[in-house]
Amino acid sequence: MSGKRIVVLISGSGSNLQAIIDRVNAGAIAGEIAAVISNRASAYGLTRAADAGIETRVLDHKAFADRLAFDQALMETIDSYAADLVVLAGFMRILTPEFVRHYNGRLFNIHPSLLPKFKGLHTHQRALDEGEREHGCTVHFVTEELDGGPAIIQAATAIVAGDNADALQQRVHQLEHRIYPLAVEWFCAGRLQLEAQGVTLDGDLLPGSGYRLQE
Ligand code: GAR
Repeated sequence: MSGKRIVVLISGSGSNLQAIIDRVNAGAIAGEIAAVISNRASAYGLTRAADAGIETRVLDHKAFADRLAFDQALMETIDSYAADLVVLAGFMRILTPEFVRHYNGRLFNIHPSLLPKFKGLHTHQRALDEGEREHGCTVHFVTEELDGGPAIIQAATAIVAGDNADALQQRVHQLEHRIYPLAVEWFCAGRLQLEAQGVTLDGDLLPGSGYRLQE
């Protein structure tokens, strides 16, 4: 075992998890996925993890009295793997401030929009409805603000005539699968820091919208 210990939290398909597994297996990421945790037993991402030989855990939020009790159990589980980095990959739960503070500077999320635009759900349809010319995704450090927090990296795709939410979602997903492993790679290489003034990559402060992946 070498490098950083990564714990990935999922609720669903886990295609972003798969993209990270693939880059770990390719040797691009100086770390290993110590565990994958889902709040849903039916999440397909658990199968992806098991197929990759990664330990899996299910923590059903419905089994807990309240949000904090769930988050405390989640923290205990994550910490039992001595995680250096916690990666939210389609983990569809709002986290308590206690949780977010506990992992300050080592908690990532990916969101399917060019934040700060389109926080929340149905981002692809909303981007179309608003007549946006481009749409995309953002990896960011998690803070107490929902879908907020300092951006690490963004990637965008042009919105074209005749686009619909499904087509846009598919193109954005492809971009997600490029930027999420890259952010994990930078973190595990010790190149990325959350500092008081923002996010730094190799010691240089990134713009507020993060590093922009070029096509
Ligand atoms: C991804 O599109 C991710 O950006 C989104 O959930 C999807 C999970 O897909 N996350 C959010 O909307 C968080 N607010 P996946 O399970 O195939 O990785």
